[in-house]
Amino acid sequence: MPELPRDPLADTYPMPFVPDGWYALLRSRELGPGKVVSLHYLGRALIAFRGSDGRAAVRDAYCPHYGAHLGVGGKVVDGRVECPFHGWRFGADGSCTHAPFAARTPKVTIGGLEVREHSGLIFGYAGTGAPAWEVPEIPETISRAYAAPIDDVCRARIHVQEMRENIVDESHFHHIHGQSEPPVQDLRTDGPFAEVRGRFRRRVLGWDLDNTFDVFMYGPGVMAVRVEGPVLSLTAVALTTPVDDRTSEMRMLYYVRKPARLPFLAPLLKLVFRREALAEVREEVRIWDHKIHQARPVLLPHEKGIKALRRWYAQFYPGTPGTAAEVAAGQSSASGTAQVTAP
Ligand code: FES
Ligand SMILES: [Fe+2]
Repeated sequence: MPELPRDPLADTYPMPFVPDGWYALLRSRELGPGKVVSLHYLGRALIAFRGSDGRAAVRDAYCPHYGAHLGVGGKVVDGRVECPFHGWRFGADGSCTHAPFAARTPKVTIGGLEVREHSGLIFGYAGTGAPAWEVPEIPETISRAYAAPIDDVCRARIHVQEMRENIVDESHFHHIHGQSEPPVQDLRTDGPFAEVRGRFRRRVLGWDLDNTFDVFMYGPGVMAVRVEGPVLSLTAVALTTPVDDRTSEMRMLYYVRKPARLPFLAPLLKLVFRREALAEVREEVRIWDHKIHQARPVLLPHEKGIKALRRWYAQFYPGTPGTAAEVAAGQSSASGTAQVTAP
Protein backbone atom coordinates (compact mmCIF):
# COMPACT_ATOMS: atom_id res chain seq x y z
CA MET A 1 0.00 0.00 0.00
CA PRO A 2 1.46 3.42 -0.86
CA GLU A 3 2.35 5.64 2.10
CA LEU A 4 -0.44 7.98 3.12
CA PRO A 5 0.24 11.68 2.71
CA ARG A 6 0.98 13.29 6.04
CA ASP A 7 -1.84 15.41 7.40
CA PRO A 8 -0.38 18.39 9.33
CA LEU A 9 -3.25 17.96 11.78
CA ALA A 10 -1.57 14.77 12.94
CA ASP A 11 1.49 16.74 14.05
CA THR A 12 -0.47 19.28 16.08
CA TYR A 13 -0.77 19.02 19.84
CA PRO A 14 -2.11 21.48 22.39
CA MET A 15 0.64 20.54 24.86
CA PRO A 16 4.44 20.93 24.68
CA PHE A 17 6.16 17.92 23.16
CA VAL A 18 8.51 17.40 26.12
CA PRO A 19 6.67 16.91 29.41
CA ASP A 20 8.89 17.57 32.45
CA GLY A 21 10.42 14.45 33.92
CA TRP A 22 12.96 11.64 33.67
CA TYR A 23 13.49 9.78 30.41
CA ALA A 24 15.60 6.73 29.68
CA LEU A 25 18.10 7.69 26.98
CA LEU A 26 20.12 4.50 26.64
CA ARG A 27 20.96 1.26 28.35
CA SER A 28 24.04 1.25 30.57
CA ARG A 29 25.61 -1.49 28.46
CA GLU A 30 25.47 0.81 25.42
CA LEU A 31 27.82 3.31 27.02
CA GLY A 32 31.18 1.62 27.49
CA PRO A 33 34.04 3.55 29.08
CA GLY A 34 35.91 5.65 26.52
CA LYS A 35 32.93 5.77 24.15
CA VAL A 36 31.10 8.87 22.90
CA VAL A 37 27.52 8.01 21.93
CA SER A 38 25.44 10.42 19.84
CA LEU A 39 21.80 10.71 20.82
CA HIS A 40 18.89 12.74 19.58
CA TYR A 41 16.05 13.12 22.08
CA LEU A 42 13.90 15.90 23.52
CA GLY A 43 14.47 17.84 20.29
CA ARG A 44 18.19 18.11 21.15
CA ALA A 45 21.37 16.73 19.67
CA LEU A 46 23.11 15.13 22.65
CA ILE A 47 26.17 13.07 23.46
CA ALA A 48 26.76 10.62 26.27
CA PHE A 49 30.11 9.58 27.68
CA ARG A 50 31.60 8.45 30.99
CA GLY A 51 33.80 10.69 33.10
CA SER A 52 37.01 9.44 34.72
CA ASP A 53 34.98 8.14 37.70
CA GLY A 54 32.85 6.07 35.31
CA ARG A 55 29.73 8.17 35.85
CA ALA A 56 27.58 8.79 32.81
CA ALA A 57 27.26 12.34 31.46
CA VAL A 58 24.79 13.59 28.86
CA ARG A 59 25.64 16.94 27.27
CA ASP A 60 24.55 18.94 24.25
CA ALA A 61 26.37 17.76 21.17
CA TYR A 62 27.61 21.01 19.64
CA CYS A 63 30.95 22.48 20.49
CA PRO A 64 30.73 26.11 21.66
CA HIS A 65 34.00 26.92 19.88
CA TYR A 66 32.97 26.51 16.26
CA GLY A 67 30.00 24.17 16.26
CA ALA A 68 31.38 20.71 15.55
CA HIS A 69 29.26 17.77 16.67
CA LEU A 70 31.18 16.15 19.51
CA GLY A 71 29.70 12.75 18.73
CA VAL A 72 31.06 12.74 15.19
CA GLY A 73 34.71 11.86 15.62
CA GLY A 74 34.97 13.13 19.22
CA LYS A 75 36.78 10.91 21.68
CA VAL A 76 37.20 10.54 25.41
CA VAL A 77 40.61 11.58 26.77
CA ASP A 78 41.16 11.27 30.54
CA GLY A 79 37.41 11.20 31.19
CA ARG A 80 36.78 14.31 29.09
CA VAL A 81 35.29 14.56 25.66
CA GLU A 82 37.62 16.00 23.05
CA CYS A 83 36.15 17.85 20.08
CA PRO A 84 37.19 16.35 16.72
CA PHE A 85 37.75 19.78 15.10
CA HIS A 86 40.30 21.73 17.16
CA GLY A 87 40.76 19.58 20.24
CA TRP A 88 38.91 21.50 22.93
CA ARG A 89 38.00 19.27 25.85
CA PHE A 90 34.97 19.27 28.10
CA GLY A 91 34.39 17.53 31.42
CA ALA A 92 31.35 15.55 32.52
CA ASP A 93 29.87 18.78 33.94
CA GLY A 94 30.22 20.38 30.49
CA SER A 95 32.94 22.88 31.43
CA CYS A 96 35.82 23.46 29.05
CA THR A 97 39.02 22.11 30.58
CA HIS A 98 41.47 22.52 27.73
CA ALA A 99 41.78 24.51 24.50
CA PRO A 100 45.00 24.12 22.46
CA PHE A 101 46.96 27.37 21.98
CA ALA A 102 44.64 29.35 24.29
CA ALA A 103 46.53 31.61 26.72
CA ARG A 104 43.71 30.95 29.20
CA THR A 105 41.14 28.15 29.00
CA PRO A 106 37.84 29.76 27.87
CA LYS A 107 35.15 29.85 30.54
CA VAL A 108 32.45 28.08 28.60
CA THR A 109 30.19 25.21 29.53
CA ILE A 110 28.19 22.93 27.30
CA GLY A 111 24.57 22.53 28.38
CA GLY A 112 23.37 19.11 29.41
CA LEU A 113 20.98 17.04 31.41
CA GLU A 114 20.88 15.91 35.00
CA VAL A 115 21.66 12.20 34.82
CA ARG A 116 20.90 9.12 36.92
CA GLU A 117 22.00 5.58 36.24
CA HIS A 118 20.32 2.51 37.71
CA SER A 119 18.25 -0.47 36.64
CA GLY A 120 20.64 -0.92 33.71
CA LEU A 121 19.50 2.41 32.26
CA ILE A 122 20.80 5.96 31.90
CA PHE A 123 18.10 8.53 32.57
CA GLY A 124 18.15 12.24 31.72
CA TYR A 125 15.92 14.89 33.25
CA ALA A 126 13.96 17.33 31.10
CA GLY A 127 12.62 20.40 32.84
CA THR A 128 13.72 23.57 34.51
CA GLY A 129 15.31 23.47 37.95
CA ALA A 130 16.41 20.48 39.95
CA PRO A 131 14.31 17.32 39.74
CA ALA A 132 11.86 17.06 42.63
CA TRP A 133 11.45 13.28 42.38
CA GLU A 134 13.36 10.20 41.25
CA VAL A 135 12.60 7.09 39.24
CA PRO A 136 12.88 4.17 41.69
CA GLU A 137 15.04 1.16 40.89
CA ILE A 138 13.29 -1.61 39.01
CA PRO A 139 14.49 -4.82 40.72
CA GLU A 140 13.72 -7.23 37.86
CA THR A 141 16.36 -5.53 35.72
CA ILE A 142 19.16 -6.88 37.93
CA SER A 143 17.53 -10.06 39.24
CA ARG A 144 18.86 -13.49 38.25
CA ALA A 145 15.30 -14.81 38.44
CA TYR A 146 14.65 -13.05 35.15
CA ALA A 147 16.06 -13.81 31.72
CA ALA A 148 17.99 -11.18 29.75
CA PRO A 149 15.35 -8.84 28.34
CA ILE A 150 13.80 -8.82 24.91
CA ASP A 151 14.72 -5.33 23.72
CA ASP A 152 12.23 -3.86 21.26
CA VAL A 153 12.57 -0.27 20.05
CA CYS A 154 10.19 1.58 17.78
CA ARG A 155 9.41 5.15 16.86
CA ALA A 156 6.10 6.65 15.92
CA ARG A 157 4.82 10.05 14.92
CA ILE A 158 2.85 10.49 18.08
CA HIS A 159 3.06 12.56 21.24
CA VAL A 160 4.75 10.73 24.11
CA GLN A 161 1.63 11.25 26.26
CA GLU A 162 -0.43 9.21 23.83
CA MET A 163 2.03 6.32 24.03
CA ARG A 164 1.27 6.28 27.77
CA GLU A 165 -2.48 6.61 27.26
CA ASN A 166 -2.32 3.24 25.52
CA ILE A 167 -2.18 1.41 28.86
CA VAL A 168 -5.53 2.85 29.98
CA ASP A 169 -7.19 2.54 26.57
CA GLU A 170 -9.19 -0.48 27.72
CA SER A 171 -11.01 -1.16 24.45
CA HIS A 172 -7.89 -1.63 22.33
CA PHE A 173 -6.78 -4.61 24.43
CA HIS A 174 -9.64 -6.59 22.92
CA HIS A 175 -9.33 -5.26 19.40
CA ILE A 176 -5.52 -5.28 19.05
CA HIS A 177 -4.17 -7.58 21.75
CA GLY A 178 -6.56 -10.52 21.53
CA GLN A 179 -8.03 -10.14 25.00
CA SER A 180 -11.52 -11.50 25.41
CA GLU A 181 -12.91 -8.21 26.78
CA PRO A 182 -11.64 -4.82 27.96
CA PRO A 183 -9.72 -5.33 31.21
CA VAL A 184 -11.02 -4.08 34.53
CA GLN A 185 -8.69 -1.32 35.67
CA ASP A 186 -8.18 0.74 38.75
CA LEU A 187 -6.00 3.86 38.42
CA ARG A 188 -4.49 5.44 41.51
CA THR A 189 -2.27 8.48 41.42
CA ASP A 190 0.19 9.91 43.88
CA GLY A 191 2.01 13.03 42.67
CA PRO A 192 4.32 12.06 39.77
CA PHE A 193 3.57 8.35 40.32
CA ALA A 194 0.52 6.38 39.29
CA GLU A 195 -0.58 2.75 39.44
CA VAL A 196 -3.05 0.77 37.44
CA ARG A 197 -4.12 -2.67 38.60
CA GLY A 198 -6.18 -5.00 36.55
CA ARG A 199 -6.81 -8.43 35.15
CA PHE A 200 -7.43 -9.76 31.70
CA ARG A 201 -8.08 -12.98 29.83
CA ARG A 202 -6.31 -13.69 26.59
CA ARG A 203 -5.93 -16.57 24.17
CA VAL A 204 -2.35 -17.88 23.85
CA LEU A 205 -1.62 -20.83 21.53
CA GLY A 206 -5.31 -21.77 21.67
CA TRP A 207 -5.77 -21.54 25.46
CA ASP A 208 -7.76 -18.86 27.29
CA LEU A 209 -5.55 -17.70 30.13
CA ASP A 210 -6.39 -15.44 33.07
CA ASN A 211 -3.71 -12.91 33.97
CA THR A 212 -3.26 -10.03 36.35
CA PHE A 213 -1.28 -6.91 35.66
CA ASP A 214 0.12 -4.18 37.88
CA VAL A 215 1.34 -1.06 36.21
CA PHE A 216 3.64 1.45 37.90
CA MET A 217 4.16 4.81 36.24
CA TYR A 218 7.14 6.89 37.24
CA GLY A 219 6.48 10.28 35.68
CA PRO A 220 5.82 10.88 31.99
CA GLY A 221 8.42 8.53 30.47
CA VAL A 222 9.01 5.41 32.57
CA MET A 223 6.60 2.61 33.41
CA ALA A 224 6.89 -0.96 34.69
CA VAL A 225 4.13 -3.41 33.81
CA ARG A 226 4.10 -6.61 35.86
CA VAL A 227 2.05 -9.40 34.32
CA GLU A 228 1.35 -12.64 36.17
CA GLY A 229 -0.17 -15.55 34.31
CA PRO A 230 -0.34 -19.34 34.48
CA VAL A 231 2.25 -19.77 31.71
CA LEU A 232 4.15 -16.52 31.57
CA SER A 233 5.11 -13.94 34.16
CA LEU A 234 7.01 -10.93 33.00
CA THR A 235 7.86 -7.35 33.72
CA ALA A 236 7.76 -4.99 30.79
CA VAL A 237 9.78 -1.83 31.30
CA ALA A 238 8.19 0.70 28.97
CA LEU A 239 10.43 3.66 28.19
CA THR A 240 8.76 6.41 26.20
CA THR A 241 10.88 9.38 25.20
CA PRO A 242 10.14 12.40 22.98
CA VAL A 243 12.49 12.52 19.98
CA ASP A 244 11.33 15.75 18.39
CA ASP A 245 8.14 17.75 18.03
CA ARG A 246 6.44 15.02 16.03
CA THR A 247 8.16 11.76 16.93
CA SER A 248 8.43 9.69 20.09
CA GLU A 249 10.34 6.54 20.83
CA MET A 250 9.07 3.54 22.74
CA ARG A 251 11.64 1.12 24.02
CA MET A 252 10.19 -1.99 25.59
CA LEU A 253 12.41 -4.22 27.71
CA TYR A 254 10.54 -7.43 28.47
CA TYR A 255 11.98 -9.31 31.43
CA VAL A 256 10.55 -12.85 31.41
CA ARG A 257 10.66 -14.62 34.77
CA LYS A 258 12.48 -17.94 34.55
CA PRO A 259 10.12 -20.78 35.57
CA ALA A 260 11.21 -21.73 39.11
CA ARG A 261 11.72 -25.45 38.51
CA LEU A 262 12.41 -25.30 34.79
CA PRO A 263 14.60 -22.22 34.26
CA PHE A 264 15.93 -23.62 30.98
CA LEU A 265 12.46 -23.06 29.49
CA ALA A 266 12.94 -19.28 29.63
CA PRO A 267 14.25 -19.03 26.02
CA LEU A 268 11.17 -20.92 24.82
CA LEU A 269 8.87 -18.58 26.73
CA LYS A 270 10.68 -15.62 25.21
CA LEU A 271 10.16 -17.11 21.77
CA VAL A 272 6.43 -17.59 22.36
CA PHE A 273 6.13 -14.08 23.74
CA ARG A 274 7.94 -12.59 20.76
CA ARG A 275 5.67 -14.48 18.38
CA GLU A 276 2.51 -13.49 20.21
CA ALA A 277 3.10 -9.92 21.26
CA LEU A 278 5.60 -8.02 19.16
CA ALA A 279 3.57 -7.99 15.93
CA GLU A 280 0.75 -6.36 17.88
CA VAL A 281 3.07 -3.56 18.90
CA ARG A 282 3.96 -2.96 15.23
CA GLU A 283 0.28 -2.84 14.39
CA GLU A 284 -0.21 -0.19 17.04
CA VAL A 285 2.74 1.84 15.84
CA ARG A 286 1.18 1.99 12.40
CA ILE A 287 -2.04 3.32 13.92
CA TRP A 288 -0.13 5.80 16.08
CA ASP A 289 1.80 7.03 13.05
CA HIS A 290 -1.38 8.34 11.49
CA LYS A 291 -3.72 9.18 14.32
CA ILE A 292 -4.45 12.70 15.49
CA HIS A 293 -4.69 13.95 19.05
CA GLN A 294 -8.36 14.15 19.99
CA ALA A 295 -8.44 16.80 22.72
CA ARG A 296 -12.02 15.75 23.49
CA PRO A 297 -12.36 12.10 22.53
CA VAL A 298 -15.84 10.54 22.49
CA LEU A 299 -15.33 8.03 25.28
CA LEU A 300 -17.56 5.15 26.29
CA PRO A 301 -18.41 4.73 29.98
CA HIS A 302 -15.71 2.09 30.53
CA GLU A 303 -13.04 4.27 28.86
CA LYS A 304 -12.83 6.90 31.61
CA GLY A 305 -9.24 5.84 32.30
CA ILE A 306 -8.02 7.96 29.38
CA LYS A 307 -9.51 11.09 30.98
CA ALA A 308 -8.08 10.18 34.38
CA LEU A 309 -4.65 9.58 32.85
CA ARG A 310 -4.77 12.95 31.08
CA ARG A 311 -5.68 14.72 34.32
CA TRP A 312 -2.68 13.11 36.05
CA TYR A 313 -0.32 13.70 33.11
CA ALA A 314 -1.19 17.43 32.91
CA GLN A 315 1.08 18.03 35.95
CA PHE A 316 4.11 17.43 33.70
CA TYR A 317 3.32 20.60 31.74
CA PRO A 318 3.85 23.21 34.44
CA GLY A 319 3.41 26.80 33.32
CA THR A 320 0.90 25.87 30.64
CA PRO A 321 -2.35 26.16 32.61
CA GLY A 322 -4.54 26.51 29.52
CA THR A 323 -3.10 23.29 28.14
CA ALA A 324 -3.44 21.48 31.43
CA ALA A 325 -7.05 22.53 31.67
CA GLU A 326 -7.71 21.39 28.16
CA VAL A 327 -6.05 18.02 28.41
CA ALA A 328 -7.80 17.45 31.69
CA ALA A 329 -11.14 18.33 30.09
CA GLY A 330 -12.55 18.55 33.55
CA GLN A 331 -11.36 19.33 37.03
CA SER A 332 -7.64 18.74 37.51
CA SER A 333 -6.14 16.83 40.40
CA ALA A 334 -2.63 15.52 40.95
CA SER A 335 -3.77 12.71 43.17
CA GLY A 336 -6.84 10.58 43.58
CA THR A 337 -8.39 7.42 42.24
CA ALA A 338 -10.50 6.53 39.27
CA GLN A 339 -12.36 3.26 39.30
CA VAL A 340 -12.79 1.95 35.81
CA THR A 341 -14.85 -1.14 35.14
CA ALA A 342 -15.62 -3.11 32.05
CA PRO A 343 -19.19 -2.74 30.79
S1 FES B 1 34.68 23.30 16.95
FE1 FES B 1 35.17 22.17 18.68
S2 FES B 1 37.20 22.66 19.13
FE2 FES B 1 36.69 23.90 17.46
FE1 LIG C 1 -1.39 -1.60 23.28
